[in-house]
Amino acid sequence: MQFVAAAGGQIKGRIRVPGDKSVSHRSIILGSIAEGTTQIEGFLEGEDSLATLQAFRDMGVQIEGPDQGKVTIHGVGLNGLRKPAKALYLGNSGTSMRLLSGLLAAQSFGVTLTGDASLSSRPMNRVAIPLRDMGAVVTTADEGRPPLEFFGESALTSTDYQMPIASAQVKSCLLLAGLYAEGTTKVTEPAPTRDHTERMLNGFGYSVKSEMTPTGKQISLTGGGKLTAINIRVPSDISSATFFMVAAAITPGSDLVLEQVGINPTRIGVINILKLMGADLSLSNEKDAGGEPVADISIRYAPLHGIDIPVDQVALGIDEFPALFIAAACAQGTTRLSGAEELRVKESDRIQVMADGLDILGVKNTVKEDGIVIEGGAISGGTVESHGDHRIAMSFTVAALRATGDITINDCANVATSFPNFVELANEVGMSVVSR
Ligand code: S3P
Repeated sequence: MQFVAAAGGQIKGRIRVPGDKSVSHRSIILGSIAEGTTQIEGFLEGEDSLATLQAFRDMGVQIEGPDQGKVTIHGVGLNGLRKPAKALYLGNSGTSMRLLSGLLAAQSFGVTLTGDASLSSRPMNRVAIPLRDMGAVVTTADEGRPPLEFFGESALTSTDYQMPIASAQVKSCLLLAGLYAEGTTKVTEPAPTRDHTERMLNGFGYSVKSEMTPTGKQISLTGGGKLTAINIRVPSDISSATFFMVAAAITPGSDLVLEQVGINPTRIGVINILKLMGADLSLSNEKDAGGEPVADISIRYAPLHGIDIPVDQVALGIDEFPALFIAAACAQGTTRLSGAEELRVKESDRIQVMADGLDILGVKNTVKEDGIVIEGGAISGGTVESHGDHRIAMSFTVAALRATGDITINDCANVATSFPNFVELANEVGMSVVSR
């Protein structure tokens, strides 16, 4: 699938982007292993979170929906999952694979996790190694790549793990394994990462503690408790909202409101970075949505300037960099990103793939091992490759707003993993995008 984004356009209106992907995954996982019936509203009906949903159906959990974002899960309790008939196929979804690993390491049955070509090339030793330390029996393909095979019947023991990288997926994986482990599992993160798992576990009545230590925040829980079903309202996804925040930020005359977006402090790197670049962005109507803060985000055009992106914002905006690189291309002056080597192991190598596309569009940039330097300037039209990466595809679509010619983006089908109605909303607010 290709997107063709016409040069120019305007950004005006009031929209609500779909539900948060991270929260949607977690709502299925925790609802499935809770006792009682969990009702979810605002669930993201994207391929990634649907892969998680299907995996739990395959393990015997009765799940109704999704129907317009509503899902009902008849939880089976911590020990009620059943061996699936075949390998669990998780598509493009790294979150599904890494979070499920923690849960499956602790089951009495064996199970294999597989994915598409992109997922099959992503690093899984980051979860396999600490899970083995807890007693899990798990194998990977060469160099720690999927498939992951769990052999079951592992009695897990707790761990005290200092994560070498700031990863919410690794943290969440180990906390899920810790639910089944004897003793108290402790995970320390070198920099703050999204804390949806901790918040939601507490919501399900499972006590999770956090405390600061000299090596970072330590999150701990003790195995052997239970989760009690709750109702969950999933906030709109700040990562999806980002494409429209950047669209409005770079387009003269724009005036956009994004309704009820999740503004969890561990996710707002994009807001902080855009503000540092001079964006005219404000929050209103702040509320609590079942333990997650949400707000309306208003954004109007203002000229952006290049910045050195503070390293402490990297983990807080890790998925937003492809779009932020487009903001940098439209800013006056130089933007420098460092400390972001994790971008190389996302759905694509997001540093190189973005740099290649920026080169085609005439935007000067220099690739670094752990980041990129981008010179703001004119953007030309052209044809770029997304390499099947949803966020790259949407970022270059937004770039067309300031381009001198149309931008064609190849390999866009995976936009459906996180943002199935992206093209529709883009056209609604004033872009001109055709998918074919
Ligand atoms: C996610 C964590 C992040 C993020 C991913 C979703 C999550 O990955 O990039 O899109 O839901 O926990 P890492 O933990 O690899 O940084």
